[in-house]
Amino acid sequence: MSQSQATILVTGGAGYIGSHAVLALQQAGYHVIVLDNLVYGHRDIAETVLKVELIEGDTSDRALLDNLFATRNISAVMHFAAYAYVGESVTDPAKYYQNNFVGTLTLLEAMLAASVKHFVFSSTCATYGVPKTTPIPEDHPQNPINPYGATKLMVERVLTDFDKAYDFKSVCFRYFNAAGADPEGRLGEDHNPETHLIPLVLQTALGLRDSIAIFGTDYPTPDGTCIRDYIHVTDLAQAHVLGLSYLLNGGNTTIFNLGNGNGFSVREVIDTARQITGREITAIEHERRPGDPPALVGSGDRARSILGWNPQYADLQTILSHAWSWHQKRHAH
Ligand SMILES: NC(=O)c1ccc[n+]([C@@H]2O[C@H](COP(=O)([O-])OP(=O)(O)OC[C@H]3O[C@@H](n4cnc5c(N)ncnc54)[C@H](O)[C@@H]3O)[C@@H](O)[C@H]2O)c1
Repeated sequence: MSQSQATILVTGGAGYIGSHAVLALQQAGYHVIVLDNLVYGHRDIAETVLKVELIEGDTSDRALLDNLFATRNISAVMHFAAYAYVGESVTDPAKYYQNNFVGTLTLLEAMLAASVKHFVFSSTCATYGVPKTTPIPEDHPQNPINPYGATKLMVERVLTDFDKAYDFKSVCFRYFNAAGADPEGRLGEDHNPETHLIPLVLQTALGLRDSIAIFGTDYPTPDGTCIRDYIHVTDLAQAHVLGLSYLLNGGNTTIFNLGNGNGFSVREVIDTARQITGREITAIEHERRPGDPPALVGSGDRARSILGWNPQYADLQTILSHAWSWHQKRHAH
C-alpha cells in the first residue's frame, strides 16, 4: 500500500509527543485522524497548527472505536494516549490501570474486531525500574517500580500474546526522556501540570516560576545529580514513522529503546539552559525523591540498525534551544 493511501489513527495526537508524530506522518504523506479526549491535549494545536481531523473521544469508548474502524479504512494505530504522571500513579493507581491498561485493551480489542493489526505503542524506560547496566539494552530485565511503568509493561505483555494468538503486529518504543520542540517552532511541550525538568527550567528562565528544584545532590554520578537521556521529540517522531513503515511492509512484532546512549545530569541541564537563555535560573537543592534511579540512559542502536533511525538533534544545546524558542512563543501572551 502506498503511504498516501494509508489512514493512521493517532491516539493522544493532541498531546506533546503525539502532535510531533502527527506532523511527521503528514510530512511523510499519510492521512491522519487524531483521537484525543483532550484531558491533557490541546485543541488549538490539533486544529490550527496540524489542521488534522480531531475526534474528541476516549480509548475506552468501544462504540466510538467500532464506528471509527468500520467507517474510516484505518490501516494502523499509533497509540500515545495515556496518563504519564509517575507520582500520581503511586497515589491513584486505579486511574492508571484503568486508562493506560484497560483503555488500551479496549482499543486493541476494537482493532482485532475490525482486523486492523498494525500497532505502534508508546512504552517507557520506566518499565525497566532501577537498571543494572548502562546504557540499558532492550533485553534488560523489566521490574517497574511504580504503577505507571507497570501499566506499560502489562500492555507490552498483551502485545506479545496478541502476536502469537492473532498475528497482531506491533512496534513498541520505550522512550527515555522526551524533550525539545519542533525545530520550526510550530509545536512543543505544554503539559499542565508540568513535571519534566527541561520545561520547568525554561519556565523558571521566563519568570513563570521562582526557582527550579534539584532533588538529590549525593547520587553516585560525577556531579551528584541524576543523569537522564534526553531524546529530541522530532527524532522520536521520526522513529515512529520508520516503525510504522516497517510494520506496513510486513515487519515482525518488536521492541526498540529510543535513547541517545548518553545522558546529562540535572546540573548540566540547568547550566546549559542558563547559557542558551542568558537568564538567571535559581536552583534550590533538596533531598532525593524516592524512586529516582541515579542514571537512566538507553541505547538506540537497535532502532538505528533495524529501522535506519538516525537522530538529528542529539545534543543538549539543540534540544534546549528548540524548547526555548517554543516556550518563549507559547508563553508570550
Ligand atoms: N514525555 C515523556 O518523556 C515520555 C517518556 C516515555 C513514555 N511516554 C509516553 O508517551 C505518550 C505520550 O506522552 P506525552 O508526554 O506526549 O503526554 P501528553 O499528556 O502530552 O499526551 C497524551 C495525550 O493523550 C490524551 N489521552 C490520555 N488518555 C486518553 C484516552 N483514554 N483517550 C484519548 N486520549 C487520551 C491526552 O489528552 C493527551 O493529549 C504517553 O503514552 C506516555 O506514557 C512519554
